[in-house]
Amino acid sequence: MFCSVLSMGISGIRGYMVTVEVDCQRGMPRFELVGLPDAAVKEARDRVRSAARNLGLDWPEAQVLVNLAPADTRKTGPLYDLPILLGLFIAAGGRQMDLSGCAFIGELSLDGSLRPVNGALSMILAARQAGVEKVFLPLENGGEGSAIPGIRVYPVSSAKEILDHFLRGRELPTAQELSFSPPPVPPVPDFSEVRGQENAKRAMEIAAAGGHNILLIGPPGTGKSMLARRLPSILPSLSFAESVETTQVHSAAGVLPRGASLVEVPPFRSPHHTISPAGLAGGGAPPRPGEISLAHNGVLFLDELPEFPRIAMEVLRQPLEDGVITISRSAGRASFPCRFILVAAMNPCPCGYFGHPTQPCRCSPAKRSVYLSKVSGPLLDRLDLHVEMPPVEYKELNAAPGEPSALIRQRVEAARQLQRERYRELGIPCNGRLTPAALRKHCPLTPEAQRLLELAYDKLGLSGRSYDRLLRISRTIADLGGEEVIGSDAVAEAVQYRSLDRKYWQPDLKEL
Ligand SMILES: Nc1ncnc2c1ncn2[C@@H]1O[C@H](COP(=O)(O)OP(=O)(O)O)[C@@H](O)[C@H]1O
Ligand SMILES: [Mg+2]
Repeated sequence: MFCSVLSMGISGIRGYMVTVEVDCQRGMPRFELVGLPDAAVKEARDRVRSAARNLGLDWPEAQVLVNLAPADTRKTGPLYDLPILLGLFIAAGGRQMDLSGCAFIGELSLDGSLRPVNGALSMILAARQAGVEKVFLPLENGGEGSAIPGIRVYPVSSAKEILDHFLRGRELPTAQELSFSPPPVPPVPDFSEVRGQENAKRAMEIAAAGGHNILLIGPPGTGKSMLARRLPSILPSLSFAESVETTQVHSAAGVLPRGASLVEVPPFRSPHHTISPAGLAGGGAPPRPGEISLAHNGVLFLDELPEFPRIAMEVLRQPLEDGVITISRSAGRASFPCRFILVAAMNPCPCGYFGHPTQPCRCSPAKRSVYLSKVSGPLLDRLDLHVEMPPVEYKELNAAPGEPSALIRQRVEAARQLQRERYRELGIPCNGRLTPAALRKHCPLTPEAQRLLELAYDKLGLSGRSYDRLLRISRTIADLGGEEVIGSDAVAEAVQYRSLDRKYWQPDLKEL
């Protein structure tokens, strides 16, 4: 007998429908699996056989052919165990079950219980799109099911529950539909704990408001890491679409906590500098998202930037421009989104005390120069805001707590609202994403601002790219002040965030 069962597959964060066709014919007992399965899929036979026996089902003494259609798409992972088991049971002449409108995913344990799979959320979305009414998946993936309206999701703990449901009409609870409600104050550390550093805090506010990348330079212990970790607390809250997309990436990578629903707070990722290029950008077979994609719609923090190998910095260049990375391997090709705010932190020299008011620096100019040159030029260029974080004075450290994140976030949200309205037709959310063509149109300047910008361009010897960045930052500063036309104050402040590379990287160039 022949039977087909609906299932799903995933490539990158794109889910698609898969039909598991099972054919049982009399003859020498054998089991064949076709349809571009990878090793994990091929091993389904052994898992399904044990699970079937332990569930008390007969393993068919027949010629069994399982085809995963469409046959030209590579199938990865053990998620077809469940549909194969069901298909076998029906095709081998077991009792009839009406599986129409139902799709199944899940890895089987040898005792018939179900293990969670990666990428469930993307697959549920694809199933809904394809008009599937019900999805049956492992219990631990139920949280992802509850995030999506318009489709019924049944989280189940074992294949037995599914058999009982279809054969004996036993009720199964559906995943509770949750309303999307990001917390008004994200459960992350607060800005108020950082004392002093007003200049750096202001720069962080600008970074959050316009979606700009930022570099923090200063001696050890001045709060660089502390401040970076607090950036998610002042970022605008995620929209439902952003939250879903970020969750899709986390789900595909298998890093969603068990039973978790949507990622509701902008993610914060801080990979160690020993991370491999594949760990950073994504890779493997099948391709999995890397840290840059796990930071999608959130923050990627590179602490001790010069310690990162040059190749890691090179890897970041293209994703920083495009917001998406495509990984091509012999085992498949997959794209993952990667729009994040890059925060980098570093000491000004190997010993850390160059420019420190009291501690002497022990580094020779040559050593310092080698250290700084480890930061690749193109990456430095893409860090829109450069800020120095000097040592905090004793009285500042013991002063009252600073402004809480919630207040800063209100200003950030207001500035983002202006941007969303202005760029509605462009379909971009913030100034950081303005293309050079749109930039000129949306950045009107007062005559003084124009003059100042011209002066800065000549004196700082800016490239076209850094000029664009200066303009984008000026736009964000004006937005934070609620001004549509960019004034000279905004430009002057923006120039200040672009002048540190003169001090450290090109000290022979005149300061503005
Ligand atoms: N500006 C600051 N306000 C309050 N505490 C600070 C500040 N700077 C440093 N600290 C304290 O010093 C610790 C180390 O700071 P950290 O952010 O790791 O420094 P850095 O990354 O600049 O080396 C923090 O955990 C905090 O306790
Ligand atoms: Mg640090």
